[in-house]
Amino acid sequence: MSNDTQTHMAREVATDRRRRAPWWLWVLLAVAVFSLLVYVFWQYRGQRSQPEDYGMLDEALASDDPMVLGRRIYLLNCAICHQADGTGVPGLYPPLVDSEWVQGDPDRLIRITLHGLMGRLVIRGVYYNSAMTPFVRLSDRQIAAVLTFIRGNPDWKNNAPPVRPEDVAAIRAMYPGRTHAWTAAELAAVARPQSAPAGQ
Ligand code: HEC
Repeated sequence: MSNDTQTHMAREVATDRRRRAPWWLWVLLAVAVFSLLVYVFWQYRGQRSQPEDYGMLDEALASDDPMVLGRRIYLLNCAICHQADGTGVPGLYPPLVDSEWVQGDPDRLIRITLHGLMGRLVIRGVYYNSAMTPFVRLSDRQIAAVLTFIRGNPDWKNNAPPVRPEDVAAIRAMYPGRTHAWTAAELAAVARPQSAPAGQ
């Protein structure tokens, strides 16, 4: 073989290697295509589910039915701690199901919701010493609805009378500019005599 032919053959082997893509490039390509498909699929799902959900949300927030509005306000503001089913997290967030506080004095409930609650608390035999955020930014109608909802929720076997927006307005007017949370002791002290919480 002449020197010329050898160089020619070597060059051909080199170009052949270059033409055939290495195996990892195929793997990379497969992963890229798969990711793209997953991405497109999720985008498509999101587009399909969003308009419906937002529509439902607006409808609920505009509702005149306090149970419908209250459920929405509850899911948006309270469920993150007390859970969607109202059972709370033992030792951390007390339950609203089967709670004497929920079914009891509505004024106390309005105070808790407006300004929050902190300090020692025993609910259904479990000890709590935590803090609940205030909801003074919610309207009288929204607070009345959420309290009506938790007090009357048949799924929780609650059936206490509703809370009216006027009741919320009256309590709100008593504490203009209040920013600190209530304690159980303070609530007992301001409660009307006939509605003082039993044994708290
Ligand atoms: C950031 C978490 C959090 C959110 C959000 C929250 N709570 Fe609470 N809630 C608590 C904690 C913690 C306590 C107990 C406070 C303590 O230990 O003194 C409590 C106590 C209560 C109580 C009295 C105890 C009981 O179990 O009956 C009621 C009633 C209540 N919350 C209602 C509500 C309502 C209504 C909303 C929504 C408008 C709400 N909470 C939002 C954390 C939260």
